[in-house]
Amino acid sequence: MSTSTITRSDGVHLNEPIVPAMRGETQAFSMARKNPLALDATAAAASIDNLNQLLADTLTLRDLYKKHHWQASGPSFYVMHLLFDKHFEEQAKLVDVLAERVQTLGGVTIAMAPDVAEATLIPRAPKDREDTATQIARLLQAHEVILLEARAMARDSAASGDLGTNDIIVSDVIRTNELQVWFLAEHLQ
Ligand SMILES: [Fe+2]
Repeated sequence: MSTSTITRSDGVHLNEPIVPAMRGETQAFSMARKNPLALDATAAAASIDNLNQLLADTLTLRDLYKKHHWQASGPSFYVMHLLFDKHFEEQAKLVDVLAERVQTLGGVTIAMAPDVAEATLIPRAPKDREDTATQIARLLQAHEVILLEARAMARDSAASGDLGTNDIIVSDVIRTNELQVWFLAEHLQ
């Protein structure tokens, strides 16, 4: 069992005003503001839900890349260490694009790890370290989860007239994920 040198008996400070006030909420997660985007409110609400799902899965894939960057091993250690971090950076950029689209449409982004863990459709990775082939297989599985849902969401957003969201899903999410799949899958040939 781990021990800490930090005293735990000083809990009185937890009641001081640095604790966030419960009344500070300005918008419920489930509510959408109507921004003047000349976009149907139902279409915007559907896009917010879809984008938050994509955001949860992209945050998860981003973190999976960092896990594998740190835990790389074997004869291809150096190249995989670098490749995993490159893909991590690209997924981190997608995270910001997706999150800011949610806010643009008047929604509230999913953001914190426990909420992301609850929402993601990507299977949970173990804490254990895994060999390169297993790392790649796990990443390819996560990419496929994202690509499958992203294509369906792209069709939905085109049909509802939310072309800004459609462009992000096709040009950013689908193309980045497809390219990363190629770079990973070539290592299995
Ligand atoms: Fe690093």
